[in-house]
Amino acid sequence: MQRFVYGRRRSKRLRPGRRRLLAERLPEVQVALPESGGIDPRTLFPDARPLWLEIGFGGGEHLAAQAAAHPDRGLIGCEPYVSGVARLLALAEAQELANLRIVVDDARALLAALPDGCLERIFVLFPDPWPKARHHKRRIVNPATAAQFARLLQPGGELRLATDDMGYARAMLLALLPVRDLCWQAERPADWRMRPPDWPPTRYEEKAQSAGRPCVYLRFRRRAQP
Ligand SMILES: C[S@@+](CC[C@H](N)C(=O)[O-])C[C@H]1O[C@@H](n2cnc3c(N)ncnc32)[C@H](O)[C@@H]1O
Repeated sequence: MQRFVYGRRRSKRLRPGRRRLLAERLPEVQVALPESGGIDPRTLFPDARPLWLEIGFGGGEHLAAQAAAHPDRGLIGCEPYVSGVARLLALAEAQELANLRIVVDDARALLAALPDGCLERIFVLFPDPWPKARHHKRRIVNPATAAQFARLLQPGGELRLATDDMGYARAMLLALLPVRDLCWQAERPADWRMRPPDWPPTRYEEKAQSAGRPCVYLRFRRRAQP
């Protein structure tokens, strides 16, 4: 499939320490997308552990925190912005995290390359909001990716999304609520207004909160097969 990422992929200048991490550490954990065909998720870790995927992890704070809290899970991070990848590698090295794999590419290509039901959790936290109407088609959460999330989650698996853009929150719900296999977990307003305790904050979220922008947190559960 065509791979095209909007926005920055690289900062103008990377510090030498970050360049070292990209040269030495990234090859140990990087998963390259095949030009054709799919990825066999069983090859990502030496055992058949449940897999979690974070799309657009930014600086990797949430992904690293989840990897540290869940050493029995395999965490795949997908992020095309190389400086963010280097930041995650720094966190992984400092915390000696051994359960991370990184895809430096367009998440849509990764989603297409993965087989049905291979993920236990998917996180899409504060994706680029693209607020202008003419840019809405760039949003990573849309009806096509909503169908992919449902396909990739195992029964009982969870999709977590967050945004500080109320227009995007509505668009997320419009894309996800019609997907028969996904069930929104909110029962009361606090369920989407408050971040659950097992959901570490992200850098973008902290900026949104400092600027006084409220955030929306959405959790969907993949229904069991009838
Ligand atoms: C607004 S930032 C949020 C980063 C992080 N999740 C946070 O909350 O701090 C959105 C992130 O999505 C990444 N991104 C943009 N397009 C993407 C794509 N097609 N696939 C994967 N990640 C993408 C960007 O590089 C950026 O790091």
